[in-house]
Amino acid sequence: MRKIVFVTGNKGKFREVKDILATKGFEVIQNTDGYPELQEDDLEPIAAYGARWASDKLGLPVMVDDSGLFINVLNGFPGPYSAFVEKNLGNPRVLKIMEGETDRSAVFKSVIGYCEPGAEPLTFTGTVEGKIAFEELGTGGFGYDPIFDYNGKTFGELGDEFKNTVSHRRRALDKFVEWLDSQS
Ligand code: IMP
Repeated sequence: MRKIVFVTGNKGKFREVKDILATKGFEVIQNTDGYPELQEDDLEPIAAYGARWASDKLGLPVMVDDSGLFINVLNGFPGPYSAFVEKNLGNPRVLKIMEGETDRSAVFKSVIGYCEPGAEPLTFTGTVEGKIAFEELGTGGFGYDPIFDYNGKTFGELGDEFKNTVSHRRRALDKFVEWLDSQS
């Protein structure tokens, strides 16, 4: 099995990445040392900077995942501030902000950053479209999953096994693995 170090403190991300990459022949090793998160409007530079910083610090090839929920009627909010909003407001307050909104379309985005020591970082982006639900539903997944409606059910209701076949993270990882395979 090929090994890859994933720098993240987020248990939900780690579980999903481990399960998805296991099906592609990778063993994922979690590193929780962290890295500085840039303040940017887009996730790609945040992931690229984090991957380069962590790779140089650890002296190893590493991957990171920067992700977020972009709500269209709120001009992409919380987007790159998703972690802050989840921690300080949470799903109930996001639902409150969305009260009375008829356009509930939203996009989950995941950017995998990958870097080898001394090299330029690479990014692989995946997105999935859905809608903000009217209430929290389901206990699966993590973070915003109970309020992200994918074709009539939330990711919280659908659970990891299904989520991992269609998610933003799965789509970003598919691109990442395609690139890794093209290198060997
Ligand atoms: P960051 O990538 O560490 O900046 O944080 C992203 C934020 O979005 C965190 O609050 C995550 O819990 C949340 N998030 C990222 N991916 C998902 C997902 O797949 N489902 C639900 N919430 C997510």
